Amino acid sequence: VNYHTARYTISAAKVSQCPTDQCAEVAFAGRSNAGKSSAINALTQQSKLARTSKTPGRTQLINFFSLKNPQGPDATPLFLVDLPGYGYAKVPVAMKLDWQAHISDYLADRQSLKGLVLLMDIRHPMTEFDQILVDWCVDAQMPLHILLTKADKVNRGPAMSLLAKLRRELGERMGDLLTIQVFSSLKKTGVEQLALQLDNWLLG
Ligand code: GTP
Ligand code: MG
Repeated sequence: VNYHTARYTISAAKVSQCPTDQCAEVAFAGRSNAGKSSAINALTQQSKLARTSKTPGRTQLINFFSLKNPQGPDATPLFLVDLPGYGYAKVPVAMKLDWQAHISDYLADRQSLKGLVLLMDIRHPMTEFDQILVDWCVDAQMPLHILLTKADKVNRGPAMSLLAKLRRELGERMGDLLTIQVFSSLKKTGVEQLALQLDNWLLG
């Protein structure tokens, strides 16, 4: 897939507003500020495609970006999906629950979802909600690709040991469902590895 072809399609406030559930898509999930929108921009080489912000909680809707299917215009529509971040403390509780309900509805309903990309700040891995998403993937037998983001903020040694530790611990539960890598949108580290994984899911 040429990720450079990504185009903004629609922002859905609820699952019923998502594109017809007959496509192939991958969703980017993770804590607010983990770097989901930045990763989509790095992948698509479009610095302004997904809105990023220093203020956590920027992405509040389920944003769909269409991709050109290399199999031709009549082939299955392909999408990247930018999910709202979770765990942003400053948002009122009711709104927080609302978002999390949207994410769970989306995950529970969406037949088109081929895999979940879970982003974690490499300095703050496996928060409580990250754990919930991992458990959900195990239950649903949903392929999971973890990005340890902002790798530019830490040294290579500690990054590699965290990678090995998570690969071992989560790999025990998930086997082939799990892949994991380090990533930096700033330095463009790991973009090619991410693209190869998404190709597997979207076209495989
Ligand atoms: P929400 O939409 O609130 O859920 O956040 P998000 O996960 O989409 O995060 P976003 O991409 O908006 O990035 C949050 C902040 O982290 C921004 O200030 C980015 O510039 C910064 N950031 C994202 N990726 C990286 C990275 O790889 N390295 C560094 N150093 N900063 C990054
Ligand atoms: Mg965002």
